[in-house]
Amino acid sequence: MSSEPLLSVRGVHRRFRTGPTVVHALRGVSFDVAAGSMVALVGRSGSGKTTLLNVIGGLDRPDAGTVHVDGSDVTALDEDGLSRLRREKVSYVFQSFGLIPVLSAAENVAAPLRMARVAPTERERRVELLLELVGLAD
Ligand SMILES: Nc1ncnc2c1ncn2[C@@H]1O[C@H](COP(=O)(O)OP(=O)(O)OP(=O)(O)O)[C@@H](O)[C@H]1O
Ligand SMILES: [Mg+2]
Repeated sequence: MSSEPLLSVRGVHRRFRTGPTVVHALRGVSFDVAAGSMVALVGRSGSGKTTLLNVIGGLDRPDAGTVHVDGSDVTALDEDGLSRLRREKVSYVFQSFGLIPVLSAAENVAAPLRMARVAPTERERRVELLLELVGLAD
């Protein structure tokens, strides 16, 4: 087993410009997260939690610094690479869930598996298993 951290954030800065004002949302953020660990990011409203998570998941790019997820440099990925990262490595449960309302629970779970081209039988197996895990099989 490798001793490399699963997530490595180094010197990340992110500034937002709204007209004449500049908000420095992240100022040189650095930390590591080991595989299998559970981390809570805590801070008052506006302290940059969402900004940091967006940068880690490749939804936003930092102005400076690097983010490595499972060995690959997220900050160096092009749009295709970022799409692959979001499909295969990083998942979010958003505050507003982001479900597709016209689809059933099973179809919502299956949607990212379809995009990842998981074969239908394997897809069905995983949908059933995952819904069972969270008590939604019925
Ligand atoms: N797209 C944006 N444009 C301009 N300013 C932004 C943008 N996104 C975030 N900010 C500013 O950056 C700072 C950090 O915001 P962020 O949303 O990351 O905080 P947060 O810790 O997630 O807050 P909350 O607890 O309210 O969710 C805030 O001052 C916010 O106003
Ligand atoms: Mg937030």
